Amino acid sequence: MQLSVVILAAGQGKRMNSDLPKVLQPLAGRPLLSHVVRTARALEPATILVVYGHGGAQVQGALSHESIDWILQAQQLGTGHAVMQAMALIPDEHWVLVLCGDVPLIRAETLQRLLGAAQAEAEAEAGVRANQLALLTVMAEDPSGYGRIVRDAAGKILAIVEQTDATGNQLSIREINTGILLAPADRLRGWLACLSNDNSQQEYYLTDIVAAAVKGGSGILSVLAHNGAEVMGVNDKLQLAQVEAAYRRERTRDLMRAGATLADPTRVDVRGEVTLGRDVFIDVNAVLEGEIHLGARVKIGPNCLLRNAKIGDDTEVLANSIIDDAVVASNCRIGPFARLRPGTVLHSEAHVGNFVEVKNSELGVRAKANHLSYLGDAQVGNEVNVGAGTITCNYDGANKWPAVIEDGAFIGSGSMLVAPLRIGAQATIGAGSTITASTPPGKLTLTRSKQTSIDGWKRPIKLNDSDKSAAIKNALQKPEG
Ligand code: UD1
Ligand code: CA
Repeated sequence: MQLSVVILAAGQGKRMNSDLPKVLQPLAGRPLLSHVVRTARALEPATILVVYGHGGAQVQGALSHESIDWILQAQQLGTGHAVMQAMALIPDEHWVLVLCGDVPLIRAETLQRLLGAAQAEAEAEAGVRANQLALLTVMAEDPSGYGRIVRDAAGKILAIVEQTDATGNQLSIREINTGILLAPADRLRGWLACLSNDNSQQEYYLTDIVAAAVKGGSGILSVLAHNGAEVMGVNDKLQLAQVEAAYRRERTRDLMRAGATLADPTRVDVRGEVTLGRDVFIDVNAVLEGEIHLGARVKIGPNCLLRNAKIGDDTEVLANSIIDDAVVASNCRIGPFARLRPGTVLHSEAHVGNFVEVKNSELGVRAKANHLSYLGDAQVGNEVNVGAGTITCNYDGANKWPAVIEDGAFIGSGSMLVAPLRIGAQATIGAGSTITASTPPGKLTLTRSKQTSIDGWKRPIKLNDSDKSAAIKNALQKPEG
């Protein structure tokens, strides 16, 4: 079966009340349309044609990395009109699978079932070409807003009627059109030519090809989607949230199937692709974005954000930590309240503790920065101890500079390390030092002023208001010159 996939994505999405085109609204952090394109890609079709129009350049820009044939529908005259625009590029012998840019959770397996059913039918009917329009339908709990599948007493499909054109009886039909259908290109071309816009929305409805096919003597095949969630259409922000929730539910199930223990599956947000070792534990309110790998027995504490992170076996991430574009080896301890920014690499058994920010830096085996520090553009060796409140001063207002801290160095608390510099192996930096040049290995270096105690010094006393005002006025005078 030579397959052309047509994805309808030209509509504005009025019901979204948003400046962002509907098909670019994010689901799990990616545009709705990119979910549909990814699923289409899994079918390995000959071509993927995306019909675009509203927000044209923006839509194309958001998917510029995809290899897609873009079809412009300059005026959005309906879903049927949209498919017509694509037909010029599709050879007669292809099958055309129509997907909607706003039905993002459709699974490749379900589409395979539709393709399989149509193919089986075509082979059985070899040459006769009956029943060649295949619809994906579903029994909806609440069919409102969707096109209804109208069948005769014998169950034969006669037509699809849109909600706005349906009669009272038709409105109570629970079988709905998912918007997804499959047809041979040559037949589809003929049926599309029969469409008119004589309906409540004055649009050329794709759904009217069903009545056209029936009129032309063709039977209509239908395949039922297993559940309503995967064929949910997104027309407004409510439905967007419902689809997001369905996506989340599915992903957390994947995690649990892979052996993870979730403190509460409804309070884990997966917005990307997560791979797992065995016996991972994830506490509440974790947000997992992008590509994430969690090694065996990794523990993620409550309220953590992980984005594009690789975390080694047995590492523990404590509450309220952020790991963004970082690689963490095994047996590390991060947080609580730690922030690993892009370009961070932690080697095994490294510890990064509370209120420590690490950016574009590498920490060696068993290196520790446990409290209140900033490490930026730093190369920190094995078994280095970074004392509380240490800062690598990597920015001079114009340039970023690197700091190298060699194996076994001990950085006293409250040290300012003004980069570029190198702290030698096994060196000790005295607490409270501002270090502006490289220091030798093995020695104590400090820049502290001598400690003094002042004889006769008295504690301040409480001033009356006028003395206090005079003192402030005096102190805040602008310096001359
Ligand atoms: C459509 C179906 C309805 C079905 C529902 C499933 C029609 C007439 N109705 O209704 O039977 O139950 O989907 O979700 O087909 N689009 C274009 N160009 C246009 C108009 C729309 O590309 O001129 C695109 C939209 O961007 C969207 C898709 O087609 O991605 C569906 O359009 P939409 O207006 O959302 O149709 P529904 O009212 O949801
Ligand atoms: Ca829709």
